[in-house]
Amino acid sequence: MNPNFSFFSLLLFFISFLAITATDLIIQETCRKCARNDPNIYYSFCVASLQASPDAHSANLRQLGIISLKLTRVNVTDTRHYIKELLKNKRLDPNFRACLNDCLDLYSDANSTLKQAIKDYKSNHYEDANIAVSSVTDASTTCEDGFKEMGIVSPLTGRNNNTFELSAIALSIINMLH
Ligand SMILES: *[C@@H]1O[C@H](CO)[C@@H](O)[C@H](O)[C@H]1NC(C)=O
Ligand SMILES: *[C@@H]1O[C@H](CO)[C@@H](O)[C@H](O)[C@H]1NC(C)=O
Ligand SMILES: *[C@@H]1O[C@H](CO)[C@@H](O)[C@H](O)[C@H]1NC(C)=O
Repeated sequence: MNPNFSFFSLLLFFISFLAITATDLIIQETCRKCARNDPNIYYSFCVASLQASPDAHSANLRQLGIISLKLTRVNVTDTRHYIKELLKNKRLDPNFRACLNDCLDLYSDANSTLKQAIKDYKSNHYEDANIAVSSVTDASTTCEDGFKEMGIVSPLTGRNNNTFELSAIALSIINMLH
């Protein structure tokens, strides 16, 4: 092999290795801070969620905030559609249906709340973004508690947990910025 060529490819390899490591370090460092500031945030969930977003690999802290807000919104939208599918079943127990309807309202509101939160965030209104995102975290626990209070097994536990975690991560990043 041409020694110059192998040196060049080694150099390229080394540079891209450094670049990948550097951005993943920002994700890891941010998630470490999130988990330290909020004991409800799981470090590995945080890293996996942020790393799954292609944009996150060249992001700074402020951009990670936007990414986490958008991830939360996509998740909320998906759960809202899932609840609507469940509600199509005509033979649901009335209490179960009532819980699902409450969750549908909560998740519909969460979508528009997050839209506003992203606007607030982009215009540096971190206090307003904080309040909005907190209400989304609350929505996930209110939905889950609705089933618990009725003694019904929630079909949304995993999804509520995802919304809880993602919104808590967004909130934690917002609080690092202001
Ligand atoms: C919701 O978030 C979880 C955790 O990051 C992820 O595994 C899942 O794919 C997301 N769902 C959608 C529809 O984005
Ligand atoms: C909710 O937000 C998403 C973005 O994730 C958007 O595409 C969707 O149309 C919104 N509205 C509803 C009612 O789900
Ligand atoms: C919520 O998600 C985290 C991280 O994936 C997991 O460790 C935890 O057990 C989940 N909690 C519930 C109640 O499902």
